[in-house]
Amino acid sequence: MNGTEIRKKYLEYFNSREHAIIPSAPIIPENDPTTLFTSSGMQPLLPYLLGSPHPKGARLVNSQKCFRAEDIEEIGDNRHTTCFEMLGNWSLGDYFKKEQLNWIFDFFTKEVGLSPEKLYVTVFAGEEKYGIPKDNEAVLIWKELFKKVGIDAKDIFIGSEEDGGKTGMQGGRIFYYNSKKNWWSRSGVPENMPAGEPGGPDSEVFYDFGTPHDKSFGENCHPNCDCGRFMEIGNSVFMEYVKEADGSFSTLPQKNVDFGGGLERIAAASLGGADIFGTDLFKPIIESIEKLSQKKYQGGLVKDDSAFRIIADHMKGAVFMMSGGILPANTEQGYVLRRLIRRAVRYADLLGLKENELQKTVDSISLIYKDVYPEIQEKIEYIREGVKNEEVKFRKTLEVGMRQFEKIKSEGISGHEAFLLFTTYGFPIELTLELAKEKELSVDLDGFKAEMEKHKILSKSQSDQKFKGGLADHGEMAVKYHTATHLLQKALIEILGNHVAQKGSNITGERLRFDFSHNQKMTDEEKKKVEDLVNQKIKEALPVSYEDIPLVEAEKRGAIRLFEEKYGDVVRVYKVGDFSLEFCGGPHVKNTSELGNFKITKEEAVSSGVRRIKAILT
Ligand code: SER
Repeated sequence: MNGTEIRKKYLEYFNSREHAIIPSAPIIPENDPTTLFTSSGMQPLLPYLLGSPHPKGARLVNSQKCFRAEDIEEIGDNRHTTCFEMLGNWSLGDYFKKEQLNWIFDFFTKEVGLSPEKLYVTVFAGEEKYGIPKDNEAVLIWKELFKKVGIDAKDIFIGSEEDGGKTGMQGGRIFYYNSKKNWWSRSGVPENMPAGEPGGPDSEVFYDFGTPHDKSFGENCHPNCDCGRFMEIGNSVFMEYVKEADGSFSTLPQKNVDFGGGLERIAAASLGGADIFGTDLFKPIIESIEKLSQKKYQGGLVKDDSAFRIIADHMKGAVFMMSGGILPANTEQGYVLRRLIRRAVRYADLLGLKENELQKTVDSISLIYKDVYPEIQEKIEYIREGVKNEEVKFRKTLEVGMRQFEKIKSEGISGHEAFLLFTTYGFPIELTLELAKEKELSVDLDGFKAEMEKHKILSKSQSDQKFKGGLADHGEMAVKYHTATHLLQKALIEILGNHVAQKGSNITGERLRFDFSHNQKMTDEEKKKVEDLVNQKIKEALPVSYEDIPLVEAEKRGAIRLFEEKYGDVVRVYKVGDFSLEFCGGPHVKNTSELGNFKITKEEAVSSGVRRIKAILT
C-alpha cells in the first residue's frame, strides 16, 4: 500500500469503529500562544484531552499536517523530516489500552499487511520518583496479540538508550524503556512538564527493516537505536496523568488514548525499503530534483543522498507553510520558512541545480497532495513566486557575505567568525567550509559548534519560557486576551466594515496581536471608536458561552469564521452576549467583566492590504 492508500484506509478503519473524522488543523496554530507550529495531532485537541467535551464525541480520527522546527539541522537520513503527516486516533475518556493496542496491531498487520515478525514494541519501564508504575497491562496485551499470530513475545528490560546499546536485542519482542523514550507529553519527560499539562506512558511500534547494524551508533542494536534498522511507525499514548503545581502527578478525570503514527514511515514499511523518501509521498519531489540536477538518487541508508532529502523535506515544509499564508520574514514562522528555503537553495547549488530552478519542485509537491490539500494547487503561483523571491534575496545577501569573507585576512577562520558569517550573512557552515578550502584557510569547526550550541541553548530557554508563559504562569491572562480578540474582531467589523477578516492572531500573557484585511491605516478616531466599543462590551458584563452546532447553522447565523480553514460538519461557536458569534475551540473567560480595560498600543501595516493591531488589557 502506498501512503495515499494508507491514509484513506486508516480513516475508514477507525471511522467504522465509531470515530468521527475531523479535518487537519492548520499547520500554523490559531490562538495558541505556546507554540509556532502544530507539531502533533493532539496539540489542537488539548482542551478536550483535559476534559472539555468535543462536539464530535469521544472518538476521533484524522490525518494532521505537522511541522517540527527543532529538527531542521538533523534532516538527511532515511527517516527524519521537519514536516510530516501524523495519523491520529483519540479516545477522550472512552476506550483505553486493550482496544487501542488490538486495533493498531490489527490495522498494521491486517489492513496495511505488515508482517508481525517485523514488528517490535516498546513499553514504559515505570518512574518510581513519581509513583508511576511499569506498564504491565500493555505488556500482557501485546503478549496475547503476538501469541495469536504464533509469536512467543519475550519482554526485555532496556531502561535507557545507553543501556540498550549495552544489552541489545536478547531475542526480545517487547522492550521496556524509561521516560526519555516511553513517556509522552508536549514538553517531553515528566521533569520538563509545566503544571496543568497532561501526559502519560506510551507504547511504540517499530518496524524492522533488517538492515545491518552500524556500530557507530553503539555496540548493539535495539528498537530505539539510531542506525536506521528500526523505524518507529506508531505511538499509543495512554494519557491519564496531569502534572500538579507541586511537581507531583495525579490522574486525569478521564483516561485518554492519543495515538500518532508517521504516515511516511508506515508507507516506507509497507514498501519494504528503509527510506521514507522512496515512498509516493516524496518520490515525485526526488524525481523532480533528479531531473533538474541530472544526478541520480540512490535511497536506503545511503548517506550521500542527504542533499536530495534536505531539498525535498525543506521544500515540502516551505510549501505547507506558504499554503497556510506564511511568507519568509525575520521573525517567528516566517523566519523558519526563510531558513528552509535558504538551506534548500544551498543544497540545490551543491547538487548543481541552476539559479531559480528550485521553485520548479513546487509542482511535484502540489501533485502529491492534490486530493487531500487542494489549497496548495490553489496557491501555486503565489508559492512559486515566494520561493523565487526568497532565492533572489538570499543570493544578494550571499554577495555581501562574500565580500565580508574576502576581508578575513588571518590564516584561519575562528569559530566566532564562522558564527557571524552564519547569523549575520546567512552563510551556512557548509559554504564557509567550502570557501575556506578553496582559499586554503582553516576553519575552527569545534569553535563554531560551541557558539551554535550556546545560541541553541539560548533559544531553547526562550522557547521553554514561551511554553511556560502560555500554559502555566500566564495561562489566565492568555485566556483573557483570547476573549478580548473576539471582541476586537467584532468591533473592527462594526467600525471599519464587513471586509475585515482575520489574517492572523497571536496571544501571549502580555498582549494580543491581531492581523486583519483592511487597506488603509486606521485613523486615530477609528482606533478610539474600536477601543470604546470593546470597553463598552466589557462594562456590559456579557456572558461568554459556546454551542456545538451544524456548520450550515453556524453559517446561517453569520458566525465569524476563518476563510482559509476547513471545518467539520459540526462546529463549536463562541458567543459573547449578543455581540459576537465566532467559530472557535476556546478557551475563554466566563464573563467579559473579567477583562479589565482594553487599549490599542499599535496599529501598523504587515503587508499590502493587511493591518496589525497590538493591544493590552490593564
Ligand atoms: N502525541 C503523540 C506523538 O506525537 C501521539 O500522537 O507521538
